[in-house]
Amino acid sequence: MRHRTIIEPFRIKSVEPIRLSTEPERVAALAAAHYNPFLLDSEQVIIDLLTDSGTSAMSVEQWAGVMRGDEAYAGSRSWTRMERAVRDLTGMAHVLPTHQGRAAERIIYGHLGGRGKVFLANTHFDTTRANIEFSGATAIDLPIAEGRRPDALHPFKGNLDVPALEVLLRQHGTAVGAVILTVTNNSGGGQPVSLENAAAVSAACRRHGIPFLLDCCRIAENSWFIKHREPGMQDLTYREIAQRMFALADGAVMSAKKDGLANMGGFLALRDEALAQACTNLLIITEGFTTYGGLSGRDLEAIAIGLEEVFDPHYLEYRVRSTTFLGEHLHALGIPLMRPIGGHAVYVDAKALYPHIPVTEYPGQSLVCELYTLGGIRSVEIGSVMFGTYDSAGALVPAAMELVRLAIPRRVYTQSHIEYVAETFEAVAARASEVRGYRIVREPRFLRHFSAHFAPC
Ligand code: F0G
Repeated sequence: MRHRTIIEPFRIKSVEPIRLSTEPERVAALAAAHYNPFLLDSEQVIIDLLTDSGTSAMSVEQWAGVMRGDEAYAGSRSWTRMERAVRDLTGMAHVLPTHQGRAAERIIYGHLGGRGKVFLANTHFDTTRANIEFSGATAIDLPIAEGRRPDALHPFKGNLDVPALEVLLRQHGTAVGAVILTVTNNSGGGQPVSLENAAAVSAACRRHGIPFLLDCCRIAENSWFIKHREPGMQDLTYREIAQRMFALADGAVMSAKKDGLANMGGFLALRDEALAQACTNLLIITEGFTTYGGLSGRDLEAIAIGLEEVFDPHYLEYRVRSTTFLGEHLHALGIPLMRPIGGHAVYVDAKALYPHIPVTEYPGQSLVCELYTLGGIRSVEIGSVMFGTYDSAGALVPAAMELVRLAIPRRVYTQSHIEYVAETFEAVAARASEVRGYRIVREPRFLRHFSAHFAPC
């Protein structure tokens, strides 16, 4: 018999109680958090879909690895294990451990960046953009046209626009610090990048002598899409597909908090020895010695094991199908979504859900607040709160899309949790026309979404 039901391919051994709150409690909590769910306590949240980063449930093997972690300052056994796992996967000789993805970004973009430099990507994730801009350089997003249209169906909506890349590579020449492919494309809806696109980007970079880097924190999920959508790839394993993609790149930045199935960690992997040496100097100054880089031995161990487990076909099937399950439920309710559904999250098109709220009043923030009030669900705005800027006259320059991300932590929530989220959306849809926008009353200069204060309009 072939079953329709996709079951979680694991049993639950240890449970973490969820505190169930009432709607009046949540109304008060949201006001006290200045309508920014980043400022809520996790105790106040029922289903936490803020991020899939660092929120994975670890396996029994990983927990056993935690006990085996070798905490030596230099030459830790756990480091040897992690280094081997990363080298085997990426084929890159030089591996620098970092405490999370953005630390690797700070090192590589701090080194390659600086005033006058330009970085080109399918879409820079917020910390990637922030690290590049902090160095004084400019970050330009070049997604394919379909990637900017939530309802445009395309199997690899995360692809980079190669003709546009060619134009900019010619225009900026050696001022281009690097070309980056984020797989899957987190800020662009968790959409995959095809191997064909990665090969075209790689070839363009080679012709112009520019480094090509992968932001590979969801490389296993990306491989699932390639195997099932890209012609000629169905007979390769997920791991082999990932290895083919790494083979095209000069380096990789990874937050192991995603497809490393770990709660903390990351790395920078490089082919070029001189570049690795320069980055190692920065690593030692800001992160730690080369064999731990800001991580405990137990973290190194958990990452080494997670990087293997994540390519398990049953796990990946469950992972992508369960994200799709939520997306299909919401689509059936008529909720406008980024489609097709991506790997780690469902992205709701808040601009289409709330056409009466102008982008200057942040429709995504309205939805984030609605989901918390009605269901205790925490999500994140990926729109003009996260990516909006101001022009010289102080007017908002909005982001390309006003999305709200429902990120699914790995191996954490069951089907009934997801059904609860879908049910909450019924109530969201029912009162959509009454919902009002928000204004920002306080904001920092960089990454304002984390700590901004809002007030209802
Ligand atoms: N690159 C991408 C594509 C990411 O999604 C993230 C983090 C990073 C880099 C930075 O990694 O958090 O370990 O420093 N994304 C998280 C998210 C925060 O919620 O999507 P980090």
